[in-house]
Amino acid sequence: MAGKVVDAEYSKEIEKARRDLRALIASKSCAPIMLRLAWHDAGTYDAKTKTGGPDGSIRNEKELAHAANNGIKIAIDFCEGIKAKHPKITYADLYQLAGVVAVEVTGGPTIDFVPGRKDSPESPEEGRLPDAKQGATHLRDVFYRMGLSDKDIVALSGGHTLGRAHRDRSGFDGPWTKEPLKFDNSYFQELLKGDSEGLLKLQTDRVLVEDPKFCKYVLLYAEDEDAFFSDYAASHKKLSELGFTPP
Ligand code: HEM
Repeated sequence: MAGKVVDAEYSKEIEKARRDLRALIASKSCAPIMLRLAWHDAGTYDAKTKTGGPDGSIRNEKELAHAANNGIKIAIDFCEGIKAKHPKITYADLYQLAGVVAVEVTGGPTIDFVPGRKDSPESPEEGRLPDAKQGATHLRDVFYRMGLSDKDIVALSGGHTLGRAHRDRSGFDGPWTKEPLKFDNSYFQELLKGDSEGLLKLQTDRVLVEDPKFCKYVLLYAEDEDAFFSDYAASHKKLSELGFTPP
């Protein structure tokens, strides 16, 4: 996009889109998939080459067809309705705003949102998002590549307080918590309880308890929801701004 992206009119559209997203997410109960959309657009970032990241590229057919993105089209289509009403807003901003609103309307922390991301026609190669069947080394490889830390890994994994896995999308099945439409610290409490019937734990969830550097944050967040909310809000903001210098 040429010229200045964010002016007073743009900021006004962002506030209107925020209200429309609140209503949409409430009426469709689609907070989990909206958060997953924001995370999958941003989570491809590579700090070394400064490629990938929250740039709206996930809507490109090629990227949407990556195995990790199975099911994301549902969220892309929900966002199209908002884009049609607010065409000035970039997809990159819209998807990140949807993630922020999804956390907020389900009872999570307020996440500071700064607009101005540009859309990119370039999609990263497949394989940048984490593989749920791998362990701590893999998790660190992926998140350190983005420029994120151990604390970010644990706090952001708390996103699994929302939603569920679907057999036809990822091959996994079930929610992580008993109330998958409520953003709270129950994900960490369930991790510490160990296996319980009907609840899912991916290998990448389990390693958060097994690895002592990760586990100290799991213990903290399970005990202290305020600490989780405040770290989550900071890590989510970082994720949503990878490779982005606010205008
Ligand atoms: C769902 C893997 C991190 C948010 C899923 C699913 C998998 C997965 C396999 C199930 C998809 C399906 O079958 O529908 C992982 C792995 C991660 C990770 C390996 C590495 C740490 C994150 C992060 C967030 C997040 C950082 C957000 C901050 C979600 C949400 C869902 C989900 C909200 C539920 C979607 C729905 O209900 O449709 N994740 N994820 N995940 N993930 Fe993650």
